[in-house]
Amino acid sequence: MINNLLGIKYPIFCGAMANITDGNFASIVSNAGGLGIIASGANDSNWVREQIRICKSKTDRPFGVNLMLLSPYTDDIAKVIIEEGVPIVTTGAGSPNKYIKLFNEYNIKTIPVVGSVAFAIRAERAGAFAVIAEGLESGGHIGEETTLVLVSEIVKSVNIPVIAAGGIVDGITFNSMLSLGVSGIQCGSIFIATKEAPVSDVYKNIIVESRDIDTIVTGRKFSTPVRIYKNELARNYIELESKASDRLELEKLTIGSHRKAIDGDIKSGSFMMGQNSGLITQIRTVKEVLEFLVNDAIKEKDKLFNSIEELKKLIK
Ligand SMILES: Cc1cc2nc3c(=O)[nH]c(=O)nc-3n(C[C@H](O)[C@H](O)[C@H](O)COP(=O)(O)O)c2cc1C
Repeated sequence: MINNLLGIKYPIFCGAMANITDGNFASIVSNAGGLGIIASGANDSNWVREQIRICKSKTDRPFGVNLMLLSPYTDDIAKVIIEEGVPIVTTGAGSPNKYIKLFNEYNIKTIPVVGSVAFAIRAERAGAFAVIAEGLESGGHIGEETTLVLVSEIVKSVNIPVIAAGGIVDGITFNSMLSLGVSGIQCGSIFIATKEAPVSDVYKNIIVESRDIDTIVTGRKFSTPVRIYKNELARNYIELESKASDRLELEKLTIGSHRKAIDGDIKSGSFMMGQNSGLITQIRTVKEVLEFLVNDAIKEKDKLFNSIEELKKLIK
């Protein structure tokens, strides 16, 4: 499993989350035995260097940095990653091939987030250490395929480790991914609902109280789909989106809206969160989240084993 390959305790990443997983939060996750990942988001290289140093001052364990490839600062941030000796990089939003080659020269493991089989194969060819197959159940920016379809196809298409992301929130969802053959999982939303997450209680409570139907995907019309909580902002956005002819017309609604969510503005905040948040029912510490995911997976294993035994009886 990926924990053995990366030198972490559990095969669980806390996915990068812009404006949430800073250097301090990443260190908390890594100290608790998962992989903490600093989200570079739209920040410049000075900010990223500062967060890496904060993380390094608080943990000796491996951690990662997420490089958003559409950012104008990507080249500078890549330099900082190399200079600061970051061991693991995940990438999002764009082709990582140029950076995989560069990071491999410095023994930095690159793990791109991928949304299709073709993307995963290209990443493997370019020298990626592993891939994160992220399905559309995820919170935030999403692709076109469900976690089930994407993961089951990618594990058959590449020979590098596959990490599953999107909708994994407890033992049964963790086990379902293990049964597909993944080497680990990446979670986002469940880590927002933690005591240590640097977001308002409003954000945490929305996740804990939400149901299966409480998220919606905005931005499909202009090929920038984002899964968020269905609040007033989301409803207004969807209504405007149906009429808008240009993405810029919608920007007025969304500028600064993720920050507003973090600060607890329930009406105008853009609360990015996963579709399976309905199964996240309590606010835990980061350590409790990691232990819960592993213990619950072990507790729930009989469901799978018993069903297999039933199947065996059918072919006797
Ligand atoms: C608030 C939020 C912000 C996110 N920001 C990023 C990001 O900056 N970079 C990235 O690669 N993924 C980002 N993601 C995706 C997560 O890293 C993770 O893959 C996803 O949340 C997993 O799905 P889940 O929320 O169902 O667990 C974000 C997700 C959320 C909920």
